[in-house]
Amino acid sequence: MPDQDFAGLLKQAMGLDAASVGPAAIARAVQDRQLACQLRSPQAYWEYLRGSAEELQQLIEAVVVPETWFFRDREAFAALGRMACEDWLPRHAEQTLRLLSLPCSTGEEPYSIVMALLDAGFPAERIRVDAIDISERALEQAQRALYGRNSFRGAELGFRDRHFTDSGSGQQLHDSIRRCVNFQQGNMFAAGFLPGAERYDAVFCRNVLIYFDRPTQDRAIQLLERLLSPSGLLFVAPSETGLLFSHGFISAKVPLAFAFRKPSAGPARPTASVAPPLPARAGGGAAARGLKLPGDRQRPPAVAAAATTGAGAETPARTPAPGLEEALRLADQGLLVDAAQACEAYLRRQGPSPQAYYLLGLVRDSAGSVAEAAHYYRKALYLDPRHQDALLHFALLQEKQGNSADASLLHSRRLRLQQTGQQ
Ligand SMILES: C[S@@+](CC[C@H](N)C(=O)[O-])C[C@H]1O[C@@H](n2cnc3c(N)ncnc32)[C@H](O)[C@@H]1O
Repeated sequence: MPDQDFAGLLKQAMGLDAASVGPAAIARAVQDRQLACQLRSPQAYWEYLRGSAEELQQLIEAVVVPETWFFRDREAFAALGRMACEDWLPRHAEQTLRLLSLPCSTGEEPYSIVMALLDAGFPAERIRVDAIDISERALEQAQRALYGRNSFRGAELGFRDRHFTDSGSGQQLHDSIRRCVNFQQGNMFAAGFLPGAERYDAVFCRNVLIYFDRPTQDRAIQLLERLLSPSGLLFVAPSETGLLFSHGFISAKVPLAFAFRKPSAGPARPTASVAPPLPARAGGGAAARGLKLPGDRQRPPAVAAAATTGAGAETPARTPAPGLEEALRLADQGLLVDAAQACEAYLRRQGPSPQAYYLLGLVRDSAGSVAEAAHYYRKALYLDPRHQDALLHFALLQEKQGNSADASLLHSRRLRLQQTGQQ
């Protein structure tokens, strides 16, 4: 390796592509570390660095981007809750659900996984989340589980009241969540990384692939394929979906969840539907509340269900409307503006459709356009008052806005429909 090739060394050590953070960021980190080590020149620091694994770790700590927050891209967690309760649980009488958060940074992602599962009614004693990151500093924070305001973004913060206690110096996560997560320090490119034969039912690998160049991304994808069980779900960040498609991964077709199945897993399964996330736990899981399982629903797979013309998601399968199918695909890829345009084009062609309005609502909701999202959910419900997904997402939106009375009316409407079997 050429002298003072700090960028080359970091790439070799952790896969970082200097272009992704900018050469100035690397130069700054090197300068800071050189000063911290009280060395007089970059050359002296280079020589020291080459002989010290501890210092290499310090340099890594100085360049990593630990940015994260609870329920980042929240539909991913909702989709996981559904998959776990409605599909996985009935098929696994005793096993533990194995999940991986790689990289986990300061812990918000793996803890969100656990909160989502518990809120969906999944039994705590059957959850195991392995959470791995290269940064020791980030892991120390994760294990403290004490969080400041930056970790709580957006308006939908009901989980904070359920799972944290205000300690005065921050929000302390409850032990019931903490004990489900097993943190480990690890470098995903290290030889022998996670050599065990056991595979994961779901892997969250989000917001790290963007820091690698293409050959390194390819290595990462091979690793993820090895770690994922044959029917497992892989969650990535919106901007990382293109890479998965190029490796033959198959979209699980859950709008805004950015979830994929392995190339060998065959077509997307019906579980990954546009069905809404399960509401917060109220005395038992999905089965306990008498909710039907996906197989019972007689409901078409995701795209067909969402893209079917006519009165709502519960309409029996028909030929998917091509325009709406395209909108779903775009939403799934994180191309929200394109997805909205596809919905609008569909509406111009086909006329009013509750599914198209619902999807537009979801897209606007996810972009943070509250008023527009409400407008479209309302339109969907005007056309199909029994549209369960629109009822739920509109209720969640109202909750977010602090309109608890409206939210609870919408929740009750949805519950009544479920109780009278009108779903
Ligand atoms: C932006 S955070 C992503 C955290 C979380 N997955 C999320 O989406 O919010 C990126 C994390 O990747 C970690 N990281 C970078 N390279 C890594 C590697 N080779 N192995 C393990 N972790 C790595 C960094 O330490 C950092 O905490």
